[in-house]
Amino acid sequence: MKKILVTGGLGFIGSHAITSLLDLDYDIFCIDNCSNANLNIISRINKISSKPFIFRKISISDQALGEFIKANEIDSVIHFAGLKSVGESVNFPAKYFYNNVIGSKILLDNLKKYKIKNFIFSSSATVYGNPLFLPLKETHPIRATNPYGQNKIDIENMIINDSYFQTECSVKILRYFNPIGAHSSGIIGESPIGIPNNLMPYILNVAKKVYSKLLIFGDDYNTLDGTGVRDYIHVMDLVQGHIKAIQYNRLGITIFNLGTGQGYSVLDLVSTFEKVNGIKIPFKVIDRRPGDVDSVFADPSEASNFLKFKATRNLEQMCHDSWNFSIRNN
Ligand code: WQD
Repeated sequence: MKKILVTGGLGFIGSHAITSLLDLDYDIFCIDNCSNANLNIISRINKISSKPFIFRKISISDQALGEFIKANEIDSVIHFAGLKSVGESVNFPAKYFYNNVIGSKILLDNLKKYKIKNFIFSSSATVYGNPLFLPLKETHPIRATNPYGQNKIDIENMIINDSYFQTECSVKILRYFNPIGAHSSGIIGESPIGIPNNLMPYILNVAKKVYSKLLIFGDDYNTLDGTGVRDYIHVMDLVQGHIKAIQYNRLGITIFNLGTGQGYSVLDLVSTFEKVNGIKIPFKVIDRRPGDVDSVFADPSEASNFLKFKATRNLEQMCHDSWNFSIRNN
């Protein structure tokens, strides 16, 4: 299994994954519709990895994708492509459903038609909704609290309920917690278009004085310091989880949490960022953001036991690498 189609390969996780896959001598075929990514990511990846890769600007729902899979004799697929803003999904549920769920259905039909034998789906811890218990195991009940989370559940269900994926393909559904950080080179990182939704991109903009202060959404949560707790995982650790998953060839469908198992609050992240980078991050506590929950963090033991995957990079490394990318790419 060497020829990997990477959908959404110019995005934050996808671009980092491609650099590591190329270094392991996989043949990479990247597609992206560039709705939330810049074509200059291609040259940035080429700066990091000496091995070239094929790129096509097409969507997962394009008619041309089937021919592309056939012509390149693709045998494995990592599916990252999708709209991923929780807030935007609340405002545009139909757009999210069409792009994420219908698009993935068309992709899945192609995977079956061309007998793809190794498939990774990029899912999210958002499928767990408001945790009933912690740490979160893969067996925790599934309940979306927003259209984006429901999209991920719908796609998981299309996979889980399909006999081809149950019996003829090695399928790994990976539920990400909170990816942050950047490639150690500082050449690629997280560069959301527009006003950031997530905490780390917002902190980076405050550090660069794009915004005067961080707005902390509530400090009355049931946590040690009252601010929201999340399981932040370095993007390169997340990529390592994908490498282990692509090399795990058990037939059928397996679900894995990709997290560190350690929760950190908003104030933990702010103080760690300030300490590591020597930059003050002014903040103001405002009302809670609708839909936010107190704490979310993983039980990572399934990935450890079966994929032999364990995150190794700490919060200091995540804060250092995020800033290292940000200062090199204004
Ligand atoms: C983290 C914490 C906020 C911004 C989301 C998606 C999830 C996944 C990861 C894709 C929370 C607080 C944030 C800010 C703040 N993405 N915060 N001020 O909401 O845990 O998860 O991103 O799969 O699907 O839901 O991440 O970074 O938005 O928030 O106080 O300006 O930071 O309240 O406690 P979240 P986040």
